[in-house]
Parts: sequence; C-alpha cells; structure tokens
Amino acid sequence: MRVPGGPAAVGFLVGAAFVAVLAAVLWVAVPGVAERTIPSLANAQVSRGERIYSASCASCHGGPTGGEMMDYPPKHNANGHTWHHPDCELVEVITTGGGPMVEMMREMMAPPGAPTMPAWREKLSDEEIDAVLAYIKTTWTPEQRELQEQATRQQC
Ligand code: HEC
Repeated sequence: MRVPGGPAAVGFLVGAAFVAVLAAVLWVAVPGVAERTIPSLANAQVSRGERIYSASCASCHGGPTGGEMMDYPPKHNANGHTWHHPDCELVEVITTGGGPMVEMMREMMAPPGAPTMPAWREKLSDEEIDAVLAYIKTTWTPEQRELQEQATRQQC
C-alpha cells in the first residue's frame, strides 16, 4: 500500500484503528457504561428490573405508588425511605438480607412478627440486582433521585 507519508503514517493509521476497536470493546464490555449512554438499553434494564420486582419483591414491598413512610416491610416507592440510602447500602441489604442498617431498622420500626428480608445473593445476579434498583429508582421523584445520587457519591 502507498500511503503519503510512508511507514510512519501507516503505523499511525494502524495505531488509531487499534485504539478505536479497543474503546468500542471496552464500552460494550464494561457493565453499566452502555446502559448509561444509550436510552433504549437503559429502558431494557428498567423493564427487566420491573419484571424481577413484580415476581420477587412486590409481595412484601408494594407497588410503584401507595403506602407510607412507616410501613413495614418498607415501601420502596416515593412514599417510603429507601431513597434515603446510598446504592452500596441497598445492594448490601439485597444481597445479604441484613447488615447494620437492617438491624437498626428492625429495632426502630418492625412490628412483632414482621417478615424478614431474604438474601438474594444466590438467586439474583449482580446485573439483576442493578436492574431491580434501576426500576425502583423510577418510582422516586426527581428530587429524591438527585439526593440519593449525592448520598451514593459521598458514601459508596
Ligand atoms: C418476605 C418479604 C420480603 C421480600 C419478598 C423482599 N423483601 Fe426486602 N425487605 C423486607 C423486610 C422485612 C425489610 C426490612 C429489613 C428486615 O426487617 O429484614 C426489607 C428491606 C429491604 C431493603 C432496605 C430498604 C429500606 O428502605 O431501608 C431493600 C433495598 C429491599 N428490602 C429490597 C428488596 C428487593 C429488591 C426484593 C426482591 C428481589 C425484596 N426486598 C424482597 C422483606 C422482604
């Protein structure tokens, strides 16, 4: 191939192509990057989360509306307090069913005989847990989402 500029230019073109391919592969492979950037993928994640939520969580935690702050098990929608907690705390509760936050909450709020939060580690993958959280967040107000994002940035 004759390229103006000789071997150096060929080297540059090959290098640039390599970087472009690497960037594309990373963009698709790193979880969350594509979801955050392509709205249709974000929607797919939310509908996946909604299906999981209806099947596994709604029986205890209720739907996208209704309920109030002191309900037990807590409502996850805008009427509950789930949005007070940063992502890492919510993920810990979902995977283990416990943790310091859950102990405090039970002590303060649980009526006698209240059910306990199951651990989902063995039943849901990390992607499924992210999807459920993405769905839960759609039931919050924009202000709640903003405050919860701030808490996540500061505490996780
Ligand atoms: C059998 C009832 C039950 C089911 C089913 C259930 N939970 Fe829970 N969950 C609870 C209870 C009760 C608590 C409060 C902690 C405790 O007492 O164990 C809780 C707490 C939580 C919390 C902390 C919330 C907060 O506002 O502080 C999150 C997040 C959560 N659950 C997510 C889920 C998700 C996601 C699912 C479905 C995959 C699910 N739960 C299914 C009973 C349940």
